[in-house]
Amino acid sequence: MAKNFSLRSLFLCALFVKLTVAVADEGMWVPMFLSKYNEADMQSKGLKLSAEDIYSVNHASLKDAVVQFGGGCSGEIISAEGLLLTNYHCGRSRVQSHSTLEMNYIENGYWSMSRSEELSNPGLTATFLVRMEDVTSEVLKNVLPEMTEVERYTAIDKASKALERKMVEGTHYEAKVKEFFGGNEYYIFITETFKDVRLVGAPPNSIGNFGADTDNWMWPRHTGDFSLFRIYADSLNRPAEYSPDNVPYKPKKHFEISMKELKEGDFTMVFGFPGRTQEYLTSFAVKQLIEQEDPLKISIREKRLAVMEKAMDADPQTKLNLHSKYASIKNYYKKFIGESFGLKNVDAVQRKQELEKRFTEWVNADENRKLKYANLLPEMEKTYNEFAPYNKGVVLYNEAFTVLDLVSYTNQFKKFHDMWKTGIRIDSLKIETEKFKKIVEPYFLDGKIKIDKEIAEQLIPIIIQEADEKYKPEFFYDIEKKYKTKLSKYVNDIFSSKSVLPNSIEEMSNTPYRMLGEGTAIDREAYRNGYFKLPKVENNNQIYFGDLAFEFVTTVTENFKDYIYPNYVKLDLKLDSLNRIYTQAQREMQTDKLFYPDANSTLRLSYGKIEGYAPNDSLVYTAFTTVDEVIAKEKPGDKEFSVPAKLKELYEKKDYGEYAVNGTVPVCFIASNHSTGGNSGAPVLNASGQLIGTNFDRNWEGTAADVMYDPAMARNISVDIRYTLFIIDKFAGAKYLLDEMTIIK
Ligand code: ARG
Ligand code: ASP
Repeated sequence: MAKNFSLRSLFLCALFVKLTVAVADEGMWVPMFLSKYNEADMQSKGLKLSAEDIYSVNHASLKDAVVQFGGGCSGEIISAEGLLLTNYHCGRSRVQSHSTLEMNYIENGYWSMSRSEELSNPGLTATFLVRMEDVTSEVLKNVLPEMTEVERYTAIDKASKALERKMVEGTHYEAKVKEFFGGNEYYIFITETFKDVRLVGAPPNSIGNFGADTDNWMWPRHTGDFSLFRIYADSLNRPAEYSPDNVPYKPKKHFEISMKELKEGDFTMVFGFPGRTQEYLTSFAVKQLIEQEDPLKISIREKRLAVMEKAMDADPQTKLNLHSKYASIKNYYKKFIGESFGLKNVDAVQRKQELEKRFTEWVNADENRKLKYANLLPEMEKTYNEFAPYNKGVVLYNEAFTVLDLVSYTNQFKKFHDMWKTGIRIDSLKIETEKFKKIVEPYFLDGKIKIDKEIAEQLIPIIIQEADEKYKPEFFYDIEKKYKTKLSKYVNDIFSSKSVLPNSIEEMSNTPYRMLGEGTAIDREAYRNGYFKLPKVENNNQIYFGDLAFEFVTTVTENFKDYIYPNYVKLDLKLDSLNRIYTQAQREMQTDKLFYPDANSTLRLSYGKIEGYAPNDSLVYTAFTTVDEVIAKEKPGDKEFSVPAKLKELYEKKDYGEYAVNGTVPVCFIASNHSTGGNSGAPVLNASGQLIGTNFDRNWEGTAADVMYDPAMARNISVDIRYTLFIIDKFAGAKYLLDEMTIIK
C-alpha cells in the first residue's frame, strides 16, 4: 500500500499545516563573542544554557566535543571513549579505500563488531579548538595606512607567524591566525589535531546516500547520511600517529543524545566549521558569479560527469574507483546550479544595488565620508570588470586543466626529466627511478587513460576556445589554424604522442642506463664525479619530450604562471583591499545591525529553530520526514532509490524498538540554522545542548545563502539522531555501540 501513494500528495497534505514563518536567524557566530553579542538573544529564543556552557576556556564546554573532521567536514564526539559521529559523505572516501569488489563496503556498509575491527585511515585527522583570541592589534601593529596591499599583506603575515610560534611554544598544539570581516579583524586559533582516526561503522550507500544526486540539495530528504569513527591517542591521551598501542581518546566532553520528541518551533543550534560564505559582496561581484563563473563551471562539470558516468556504468571496478570523486564533482555541479537559480530568485543583484544606492546617499550626506568613500564603488566596478577575464582564466585552469590526469603525469615526467638536467647521484638513480615509476604507473592502470582521454576530448577544446584574448597564447591560435574545428583530433594526437604511452614509463626509466652505455649523451665530467647528468643542449625539451603532451601541458602551465595568475592575484589583492574598506563602511552605516564575519573554516555557532518553509505560493513543506516515506520513495531498478532488504523487513514488521514515533521512525528534519559547506557532519543541538541530529545539507531554495541569506527559504537539513540510532541498533545489529553513548530518553 505504502509503496503506491505518491510523495507529491504526501507533501501537499502539508499545505494545510499552518506554518509560522518568523524571521529565521541569519549568522554564523564567533564562539568567543557569544556571551557579548548572542547569549541574551539565544536565551530569549529558548536556549537553556549560558554562553560559557557552549564556549569556555576555563572548563570543559560543548566546543570540546566538536571537531573539524578530515579538514573539510565537521564531527561530534558522542562517547567518553572517543566515538565520533559525522556524515556518510564525509567518511565515504575512507569507506571506499577499504573496499574491494569482493568486500564492497560502499554497497554493503561496514560495521566493526569490536575495537579490533576498527580500520585505520592514514592521513585522516580530527582537530579540536583549544581556544581562540582576538589578536587584531598585534597583527596590525606594523601596518601603516600608506602601505601598498602587498606591503600590508607581508607585514600581517610576519606578525601572524611570530604570534603563531609564540602561542604554542613548548606544546603539541598548533596555532593559526585567520582574518575576519575581510581583514578588519584577526583572531588566533589554538588547535589540537589527532591523527589516528579509525572507521567504526557506515551504513550501505543505499542508506547513507539514499536519493543520491537526484535528492542532493533538496528537501524533502530521506538520507541516513552518517558514519562513525573513533579517535585514538597515545597512553597520555595525546595525539599520535597510528599505532596498535594507541588507545581510545578520552575527550574533555562528549554530547548527550536526546531521543525526546522534536517539534516545529524547537530551538536548535549547529556547531561546526563552515567553510566559506561571501555575504558582503557588491552587486558587481554577484553579477559576475551568476553570469560568468557559475555557468562556466556548470558546463565544464557537466561534460566531465557525462564521461565518468558512462565509464562507471560500463565497469563495476571503475564504478567503485570513481565513486567518491564522481559524487564530489556532481555535488558542487548541482550546488552552482542551485546557487545561480536562488540568487536570481531572490533578486540578489537588484537588492545589492539598492544597498549600494543607500550607501552612496549615506556617503554623499557627509563631507568626511565623501573623502573616504566617494570613489569606492566606482573603483570596485572598474576592478571587477578588469578582473573578469583573469577570473575566467583561473576557473578554466582549475576546472578544466589541472583535473586531467594527463597534466599530472606529464608534470611527473617533466620533474623526472629535470632531475637528469640538474644531475643526480648515480647511486640514487635506481631509487629515484623506482619512486618515479610508482607515482606514474597508477595513471595507466584500469583503463584510466581511456577515461582521461575522453574527458580531455571534452575539456581541451574549451581551454583553447574560451581563453580570453588578453592572455591567449600564440600557440592556441596555431593549434586552431592547424586543426580548424577538429580539436578532438588534436587531443587524439596528444594522447598518441610519446610520453603518454604506458610503455614509455619503461622506456623513460631505462633511458639513463641506456645513455650511460652510449657514451655521448651524458655529461662525462659529471659522470666522473659520480653524477648522471644530461649535457647542455640548445633545446633540452628535444631530448625526451619532443611530444605534444609535453608541449601542451608546459605551454598552458607557463601561460597561466606568466600571464593569468599574476594579473589575477594583483586584481584580487586590490579587490580584497576595496572589499575590506566596503565591509568596514557597511558596519559604519548600519549601526543598528549586528554583523557576523563570513565563514572561513573556523568554529562557528548558528542558531534557529525547527521549521518548514513554503518554496512557492502553492506548496508548504513541513519539517520532518519518516521511514514510511523512504519505503514509498523506493524505485526498484533505480540505483539512487534502492532500499536495502533489511530495512524493508524492519518496516514490514514495524520492528522499530524504542525509536518509533507515532508508528514510524523519523529520518530527517530541517531547521533555520545558517550553514554552508564544511558544516556537514556538525552536531545539531537542542536548547539544552543535547544532540538531536547531524547536519548534512541544505534545501534547493537555500543554496544561495552563501551569498545572500533569505530567512524565508534557507534551511539546513539534518539526519534525525533517532534514525542514526535505529540504523546502528536495528539495521546493523551494532547495539553495543549505543552502550557507550549517553542517551537521554
Ligand atoms: N550537498 C551536501 C554537501 O554539500 C551533501 C553531499 C553529499 N551527497 C552527494 N550526493 N554528493 O556536501
Ligand atoms: N553538504 C555540505 C557539506 O558537506 C553542507 C552544506 O553545504 O550545506 O559541508
